[in-house]
Amino acid sequence: MGFLEWATDPWGLTVPIHIAWFLIWIAVIAGLLFFMVHAAYVRYFAKPRQFATGAPPSPESAIPARVPRHSLAARLFHWIMAAAMLTLLFTAFLPKLGVQFPWVTYHWIAGAVLTASVVFHIFHASFWLDFWSIWPDRIDMTDAYHRVLRFMGRPAPLPRKFAKYPLENKLYHGAIMAAGLAAVATGAFMMFRVRTIFFPRNPYLFSDMTWGMIYVLHGLAGVGLIALIMVHIYFGIRPEKQPITKSMIFGWMSRDFYVEEHDPQRWVINSVTSSSDSTATEA
Ligand code: HEM
Repeated sequence: MGFLEWATDPWGLTVPIHIAWFLIWIAVIAGLLFFMVHAAYVRYFAKPRQFATGAPPSPESAIPARVPRHSLAARLFHWIMAAAMLTLLFTAFLPKLGVQFPWVTYHWIAGAVLTASVVFHIFHASFWLDFWSIWPDRIDMTDAYHRVLRFMGRPAPLPRKFAKYPLENKLYHGAIMAAGLAAVATGAFMMFRVRTIFFPRNPYLFSDMTWGMIYVLHGLAGVGLIALIMVHIYFGIRPEKQPITKSMIFGWMSRDFYVEEHDPQRWVINSVTSSSDSTATEA
């Protein structure tokens, strides 16, 4: 049982054509196992989270009742990307599991939407948002080391509260970025294999071997995304993460949640007014 499917091209060369589709089930099972192990760990073994007490915020930096977390543009990007991603997953994999429909057209349209939204996101995050907020920093690494030591029962200082994004979210972003960019880059070339509105079809753009490798990478990124999206949705609906999910809908999180989980020195909220419920700006 191989992980790839092979064929013989007109010149007698054996070339890969795509991944073996049983990998879909491996990804689904990996996602389900993650749910079970994580949910059982949180329910029966995890101790309440503890953080080092940082310096108290100065009175001038009074935190608003609604802490802004995601701008309207960022939220629109997230939900457009989510719709495109789910459409891509279902249109790609349902036919492989026996549900037949003319999937290729829906698939490349959703692929074009995902590509456009990812390009937008790269510009938006680079020039308008705090680009570095999603990359692990030195404090994340030190705290991760301390958390591992404490997990193993060894003495270590308590970790600090999080910046805007906890380390786990930053690592997840890195994984989804790698898989997503691989799917987008290979998918853009695969558009030459089918009829689209963008450019004339040209299946002779690459050799059979190169096409095969593009299809394999597209498939691997795709099955990786099955497990990654399952895990993302699982965390989105977990009760303790719901304030974060709601912030992706409404744009803000409560002051209580912010104070409980975030370090005001690592994620600075610039309050614009001193009133409790009103505007503040995202740092
Ligand atoms: C969640 C992301 C994606 C997943 C899970 C996914 C998955 C797949 C799978 C499994 C196939 C079948 C490939 C094969 O038969 O070997 C496929 C085909 C295809 N994908 Fe994607 N894909 C994704 C994103 C994209 C994107 C972003 C684009 C375009 C930019 C795209 C364009 C295409 C095209 C044009 C085909 C048809 C190729 C053909 O029939 O020859 N895909 N995709």
